[in-house]
Amino acid sequence: MDEKELLRTVPLFSELSDEDITSLGRLASRRRYPKDTVVFFENEEGDFFFMIVEGRIKVTILGDDGREIILSMLGAGDFFGEMALLDNEPRSATAIAVEESELLSLHRTDFQGVIGDNPAISAALIKVLSARLRRANHQISTLALLDVYGRVARVILDMAREEGRRLKDGRIAFRRATDQEIANRVGTTRETVTRMLKDLERQGLVRVEGREIVLQPGFERSFD
Ligand code: CMP
Repeated sequence: MDEKELLRTVPLFSELSDEDITSLGRLASRRRYPKDTVVFFENEEGDFFFMIVEGRIKVTILGDDGREIILSMLGAGDFFGEMALLDNEPRSATAIAVEESELLSLHRTDFQGVIGDNPAISAALIKVLSARLRRANHQISTLALLDVYGRVARVILDMAREEGRRLKDGRIAFRRATDQEIANRVGTTRETVTRMLKDLERQGLVRVEGREIVLQPGFERSFD
């Protein structure tokens, strides 16, 4: 696929005319990032907007003690790096490719040009930013109001709903994240997550099936 066809796969740009997407395609650069490559670091100056063609990008904040808080996992069709371009502040978080990923990038000037010229794209962008703020509010309430057990369960439910698929029987199956990854989303230790997953399995609320975790009936009722 060329840049133009790749841009068509980004929902944000679905409203663009063929002509506009062709000219934007000429401005976009395409690059592959091997697994575990940092796209940019928190606090850096940033001049590029990124779209994910393929792969997965972790948006994360590193504490002074080296602990990591995962804000979000983004996948194909998602974008990131818009904030530094919209408010002229440094990067608000670090972005890391957790799988080999292919990204398209647009320079600040071209990004500002496309949103300035296309009110429909600005509206679509605001819609996504609102959804991210809602999700962040949900995360704040989870962290502030639930005990660690509830937080682990809630994060598992969020991951399942965001990344998983519904099986015919209504259960949700999703990629088996590492215990460390779940811990980094919750803000707890890996050992705590391992213990709690065992406990949830013992209660019959989750089942590990190969490379997936399957939430059993009752899980959503208990932790929603
Ligand atoms: P920017 O601040 O330029 O660089 C970090 C990027 O991570 C940011 O733009 C957003 O695209 C993305 N980001 C920051 N916080 C969140 C969040 N809570 N949820 C999803 N994406 C985020």
